[in-house]
Amino acid sequence: MVKICCLGAGYVGGPTMAVIALKCPSIEVVVVDISVSRITAWNSDQLPIYEPGLDEVVKSCRGNNLFFSSDVEKHVAEADIVFVSVNTPTKTRGLGAGKAADLTYWESAARMIADVSKSDKIVVEKSTVPVKTAEAIEKILTHNSKGVKYQILSNPEFLAEGTAIQDLFAPDRVLIGGRETPDGRRAIKALKDVYAHWVPEERILCTNLWSAELSKLAANAFLAQRISSVNAMSALCEATGADVAEVSHAVGKDTRIGHKFLNASVGFGGSCFQKDILNLVYICECNGLPEVANYWKQVIKVNDYQKNRFVNRIVSSMFNTVSGKKIAILGFAFKKDTGDTRETPAIDVCQGLLGDKARLSIYDPQVTEEQIQRDLSMNKFDWDHPVHLQPMSPSSVKQVSVVWDAYEAAKGAHGLCILTEWDEFKNLDYKKIYDNMPKPAFVFDGRNVVNPQKLREIGFIVYSIGKPLDSWLKDMPAVA
Ligand code: UDX
Ligand code: UDX
Repeated sequence: MVKICCLGAGYVGGPTMAVIALKCPSIEVVVVDISVSRITAWNSDQLPIYEPGLDEVVKSCRGNNLFFSSDVEKHVAEADIVFVSVNTPTKTRGLGAGKAADLTYWESAARMIADVSKSDKIVVEKSTVPVKTAEAIEKILTHNSKGVKYQILSNPEFLAEGTAIQDLFAPDRVLIGGRETPDGRRAIKALKDVYAHWVPEERILCTNLWSAELSKLAANAFLAQRISSVNAMSALCEATGADVAEVSHAVGKDTRIGHKFLNASVGFGGSCFQKDILNLVYICECNGLPEVANYWKQVIKVNDYQKNRFVNRIVSSMFNTVSGKKIAILGFAFKKDTGDTRETPAIDVCQGLLGDKARLSIYDPQVTEEQIQRDLSMNKFDWDHPVHLQPMSPSSVKQVSVVWDAYEAAKGAHGLCILTEWDEFKNLDYKKIYDNMPKPAFVFDGRNVVNPQKLREIGFIVYSIGKPLDSWLKDMPAVA
């Protein structure tokens, strides 16, 4: 029986290993993590992450061939294949601060593997890592090998949150990079055999190590670039009276472009896009390619511009001040169908409004109050460290209250901001909301979920990203 161990029971490691266990009954899969509370949650009825379909997959194989354990060393020692899916935060100090990946957790994982291993192992990079990380990991492992042989593979994960199980069941492609040596090829084949239990062979792409590592960064950069492109267009649409939804529909009809990932928004978030692009930028700079670095940097700059522009729109519409005004925030997660808030644009928008002394009343169907308070009090990039290493949240952020209902959030609010496209926000009783707000009552839709015309008929002043502006907003131009 092949034994797999995965280091890191997070958004990537947990669902990926659960699906491998489900699809490969002959393989024993153990997911380990230094966080005892995370492992306890994986072993309970309340899994630590919310992902449609995940509960069923975990329940059907947990205890059979899927296990969650905090006995990291034992299970690493016993495994044939070790996946590493630990955090790779952006460095906050020293060389490459603000851009380069901090490989502290990765390096200590590699050293631990070398310490405890008594049999040959395939070590698989699952976390997104800078190009050539495998080389560094290989060096750590071979210099400490005590006769044990290692093969390093890069097998980046392309799942998106909210559709993780679907993406894992039917991936567009599985990418496996390895050394172009007989041992390297054997290792690639061993991992390919795992995925071949359910993924058609033509979808399993085998490449060299560096291509696999770079492809992951490139794929995320291309996706984020599409969003920044359409968001840049949204600003021009507002200035000219075009409608960004019509523009992206027309553009996406070109089969060479395609319609996916062209929704204008308040900005992209999530644990990968910004981090991976910063990483790419850093690698370009280190390789003497400043023009290429600046090209990709612009994708992040437009994203920051979009978030700022949204805050400025709110403040300028409300007579250039939100000081002391209550603003309802609907949605805090970085997208719908997830409770994940990593790099969510809501953090920047809320901090921008708090900077102008607004009072916020926040509602999100999946995000806890503790998480929201922690996010709003954390420094940039601190989120990507295991919870116990994160700074403690202050006992209260006084200007922020978190409520469990959209109507409660909106009661008495001067403005309502939609920051996540949760389906339930489409069908709220906006008349009821309007009646409970001081006038003029504003809606700022950062995800284009409401029908602006209908809301205007109720009496709202509506701002929707990239849509023709109300005359009110035209009279109060936002300076970005
Ligand atoms: C993680 C990284 O954040 C991301 O950069 C990478 O591309 C893929 O792996 P994700 O699974 O979403 O993505 O992160 P997270 O949910 O934070 O899970 C990482 C887990 O690793 C945490 O549960 C953490 O406790 C664990 N961990 C971290 C270890 O077990 N050992 C360590 O040394 C560090
Ligand atoms: C992304 C990649 O899609 C995935 O392949 C990779 O493995 C990890 O990073 P994820 O971060 O889970 O996945 O979410 P994704 O669906 O890509 O959305 C990222 C952000 O872009 C979200 O904030 C989303 O709201 C935003 N977005 C997406 C838009 O603003 N407009 C769009 O058209 C699409």
